[in-house]
Amino acid sequence: MTVITCIEDLKRIHKRKTPKMFFDYCESGSWTEQTFRENTSDFDKIRLRQRVAVDMSNRSTATKMAGRDVAFPTALAPVGMTGMQTADGEIKAARAAEKFGVPFTLSTMSICSIEDVARATKAPFWFQLYVMQDEEFVDNMIRRAKDAGCDALVLTLDLQILGQRHKDLKNDLNAPPRLTLKNMIDIGFPTRWEWAIGMLGTHRRTFRNIVGHAKGVSNLNSLMSWTQEQFDPRLDWEKIAKIKEKWGGRLILKGILDAEDAKKAVQIGADAIIVSNHGGRQLDGALSSIRVLPSIVEAVGDQTEVWLDSGIRSGQDVLKAIAMGAKGTMIGRSYIYGLGAMGEQGVTKALEILQKEFDTSMALCGRRTIEEVDRDILLVPRDFAGDWA
Ligand code: GLV
Repeated sequence: MTVITCIEDLKRIHKRKTPKMFFDYCESGSWTEQTFRENTSDFDKIRLRQRVAVDMSNRSTATKMAGRDVAFPTALAPVGMTGMQTADGEIKAARAAEKFGVPFTLSTMSICSIEDVARATKAPFWFQLYVMQDEEFVDNMIRRAKDAGCDALVLTLDLQILGQRHKDLKNDLNAPPRLTLKNMIDIGFPTRWEWAIGMLGTHRRTFRNIVGHAKGVSNLNSLMSWTQEQFDPRLDWEKIAKIKEKWGGRLILKGILDAEDAKKAVQIGADAIIVSNHGGRQLDGALSSIRVLPSIVEAVGDQTEVWLDSGIRSGQDVLKAIAMGAKGTMIGRSYIYGLGAMGEQGVTKALEILQKEFDTSMALCGRRTIEEVDRDILLVPRDFAGDWA
């Protein structure tokens, strides 16, 4: 049996156990994938400063994100089609997050619905909203999230038009997959029986937040056609303000990559913003999140909580983001690998790995608590931010 020691191990098992179209959906960026690659390679350019002879007893990785206690500064990001990586994936991930003590965010484009997750968990989760053209449907989603006890709304701002990921088109990505010979051979691959049996044993196999809730949508299986037809390309700051008013609770704005936009988010009254390029899945050619983070912290870091996602594959990455001024992070692929590899247990494993790496690295940098983590523990190349005109 493989001894799992790092996120990369989970990724290898995920790839073996999950049909190609869903592993590829997770493991791709848009167009040339430059931004997708740089999200991780830019983290590698930053080094940690080792300190010794510091009392490392009584350490704690606990902190708060948007008022919630977290075991370490991370939350599970919204990921579309999580319930296709393994049967009932969102429920399994939400349960693992709840037990571990980090927030779970449910995507609008999830397979399990808001109600499915609410029934299966006790801790409040966060709901991520995509703004659709059908206002009634959006209002209804907001109401459903409130009824489910969600304690923050995460509004994604960078996906009113879907970035092209070549693999999804080539694989004919669908939920559930079309029963073509190619797909049957792929699903029938010897290591994928567990996935197939799980899927046969659940009735949750399409976008349950949408099918049966949106007008005229009785059968939806393509994320691509849905975004083209339904996502509202007119989303602007005025509409964001209206959504904030309708929601009336904590609002987190996701997909901020520019200091000017960060200032607008603060003006609107966002409780937190997420510096994110959507895991390199949207604007190919955009800078990595970690490279942009310092400029956003400088612009608004004292007025709202600045978090980061995109590129985190280790606890060292979480530590680097916190040391650069982020108050929290979100992980997507890192937990999806665990989920695809081993279901709920795999998400727990991913969180354990990341927290241990975070704690050990923090200690070896001579820090005992999140409050003590500062820019001093980093060695950053002088030209890291780049001299962009
Ligand atoms: C949806 O959020 C996606 O990135 O595919």
